[in-house]
Amino acid sequence: MRVFVREQRVPAAIELDRDDDRAIHFLATSDGKAVGTARVVSHHGSAKIGRMAVLKSYRGKGVGKKLLQRAIATAKKLGARTIYLHAQVPVIEFYEKLGFRCVGAVFHEAGIPHRKMILKRQKNSHEERKGQSKLGQK
Ligand SMILES: CC(C)(COP(=O)(O)OP(=O)(O)OC[C@H]1O[C@@H](n2cnc3c(N)ncnc32)[C@H](O)[C@@H]1OP(=O)(O)O)[C@@H](O)C(=O)NCCC(=O)NCCS
Repeated sequence: MRVFVREQRVPAAIELDRDDDRAIHFLATSDGKAVGTARVVSHHGSAKIGRMAVLKSYRGKGVGKKLLQRAIATAKKLGARTIYLHAQVPVIEFYEKLGFRCVGAVFHEAGIPHRKMILKRQKNSHEERKGQSKLGQK
């Protein structure tokens, strides 16, 4: 709320939605103080990461990266085949560094330009083994 509602002036009514009840929430703390958040909402085999926020004075120290890594790991554990998010345009590079790629055009959410980003699929060992055995059959 401090980041999106106070800093970015996103209406609180948009920030608090029905997905909050079923989401898995992540909270980064420093000396017992909440300094960062993220959430994962899964539906129909896909997982949406959202509410990525770090307090201004704690940015640039790796907090966001750790939160995002944790959110990705959780989405994978839930069995999500697609992991995606709606990135604010100025922070696209932050997500690219952890393997997300932009898809589609810029759109506006809460008056802020966004792009959809999807986590690039990494071949897991099962898929690699499948690929190898297919090659072996040729
Ligand atoms: C985006 C945000 C969550 C990043 O959190 P953070 O703790 O500052 O990020 P980190 O320090 O973990 O950065 C991880 C990497 O991303 C890079 N990065 C972080 N913010 C970036 C930005 N705005 N643009 C480009 N690169 C960025 C860092 O340089 C770092 O790179 P490195 O691994 O090569 O050193 C934070 O800036 C924030 O809360 N912003 C305001 C709210 C917001 O825009 N949220 C996103 C909504 S989609």
